[in-house]
Amino acid sequence: MTTRRQFLIQTGAGLAALSAGKLSSAKELASAKEEGKRPLVISTWKHGLASNEQAWKILAKGGRALDAVESGVQVAEADPEVTSVGYGGGPDREGHVTLDSCIMDEKGNAGSVAFLQNFMHPVAVARKVMEETPHVMIVGEGARRFALDQGFKEQDLLTDQARKNWQQWLKTGKYKPWSPASNPTHDTISMLAVDQAGDLSGSCTTSGLAYKMHGRVGDSPIIGAALFVDNEVGSACATGVGEEVMKTVGSFLIVELMRQGLSPTEACKEGVQRIIRKNPNWRDVQVGYLAMDRLGRVGAFAIHTGFQYAVHDGQNNVLMDSAGYTD
Ligand code: GLY
Repeated sequence: MTTRRQFLIQTGAGLAALSAGKLSSAKELASAKEEGKRPLVISTWKHGLASNEQAWKILAKGGRALDAVESGVQVAEADPEVTSVGYGGGPDREGHVTLDSCIMDEKGNAGSVAFLQNFMHPVAVARKVMEETPHVMIVGEGARRFALDQGFKEQDLLTDQARKNWQQWLKTGKYKPWSPASNPTHDTISMLAVDQAGDLSGSCTTSGLAYKMHGRVGDSPIIGAALFVDNEVGSACATGVGEEVMKTVGSFLIVELMRQGLSPTEACKEGVQRIIRKNPNWRDVQVGYLAMDRLGRVGAFAIHTGFQYAVHDGQNNVLMDSAGYTD
């Protein structure tokens, strides 16, 4: 028999009731929290599997979700085979690898860097912005100087393979940024985690769209677009064409929809539909959203099928196929 508590959670009304304070007894609230998987880490694309493994090492020891999401995505940042993030990432049309990243913790603190060049771990610089400055976002030359002040070392991130690919692209003579819709196997890594204490954090890091205009910044460092965390409700993150995510403030939207009682999947689906309703050319772009509510329930939705995400719950670290609007 389904208890009231189970019914609330299964229908998504549990979350609304929690945030509206309708679960009256402390015992009921504690029971509701137990329904979720905790700790848990999820991240975008196949490269999320290795990043989840790293994050899990921290979560399994009772560590903070914040430490897990920072450390986890650094695996993708350092992997030259991941051609959309950090070292080995595709350069802009002028041959510069420019990086965007952000991080957000359970208290709503946030840090980000944009248009940062020559640092292996922009997510770590973003965390320093959050913890060592009164600001949220530092970009370009200012971010470079800040990173150096914080002890980070500069290094060339353009690999031989990425240079060859760029030189090949130059031969076509056309300015058309690479689109995730045309090669939907990987993109930005975004990660969400909940720790044993029930606290949420998230991170996002990317080299952005390959062959973009020099100076172009996507959604990945924009709090509310590529990432949003509200410990009272849940967290959401994005991957795909950043312009579409920014114009609809996707991750903030999804968290607010969960606050109103939508399940993580329903909220991600509405985030995608918002893009589709606003952009007649939506077929040409890919965006995928992930969400995790404070109970540890997970959801995903993308414009096109092909978006995959990795889920690690301590027993398994598995790649899941997201539903897509074009299913
Ligand atoms: N989502 C990555 C970007 O658009 O730059």
